[in-house]
Amino acid sequence: MLRIDVLTLFPRMLDGFLSESILGKAREAALLGVTVHDLRGWTTDKHRTADDRPFGGGAGMVLKPEPVFAAMEQLQSPGCRRIYLTPDGVPLSPQIAQSLSQEAHLILLSGHYEGIDQRIRDRVIDQEISIGDYVLTNGTLAAAVLIDALCRFIPGVLGEEKSLTHESFSGKLLDFPQYTRPAEFRGMSVPEVLLSGNHAEIEKWRAARALEKTRQVRPDLLN
Ligand code: ADE
Repeated sequence: MLRIDVLTLFPRMLDGFLSESILGKAREAALLGVTVHDLRGWTTDKHRTADDRPFGGGAGMVLKPEPVFAAMEQLQSPGCRRIYLTPDGVPLSPQIAQSLSQEAHLILLSGHYEGIDQRIRDRVIDQEISIGDYVLTNGTLAAAVLIDALCRFIPGVLGEEKSLTHESFSGKLLDFPQYTRPAEFRGMSVPEVLLSGNHAEIEKWRAARALEKTRQVRPDLLN
């Protein structure tokens, strides 16, 4: 079972996320064990101070090294991967998600967007990951995105193995359109070919729609 510890200043942000849907089932089935920790639990002063002003001046607050080092020292295991979620990290890709899904133990650190003390990155972080070129107020949702993206690669988490391979990015094309019942809804009908039962024609139609969609939305994937 993959064990994930999340270190955050906002643990309640993950409450609903972890218990819903596929992720909730994966945890119930013990395919995945996620524990969320409040970083303030490792502060030692009476105000539970986790951040401070930056040396050298500038706006914003910086996450202090002491609580993070203490948390890492308590939680880490031999061979675990310690990951910092940050907009200046390496962009998350399906390859990264898949390779992390094969680890035994991950520790995810979510920081302030203003930053964390560099000594944390230098000593207790193995890998820095960004979920995209936009800046969130803190990395907690980024940690959630990473967990969600990687749990799909854990065998048994998705019902059908097939649903993995048929989706966007496993090849190079975006998804073809899907329809379900009713065949006729408010004057809009499902494309005839999908009702035909002709599987060769259906595959042809889907491939053409996927190519058309990719050309429109993500031409960069076609090069
Ligand atoms: N923290 C704030 N913004 C982030 C992003 N885009 N990716 C990962 N962590 C973040």
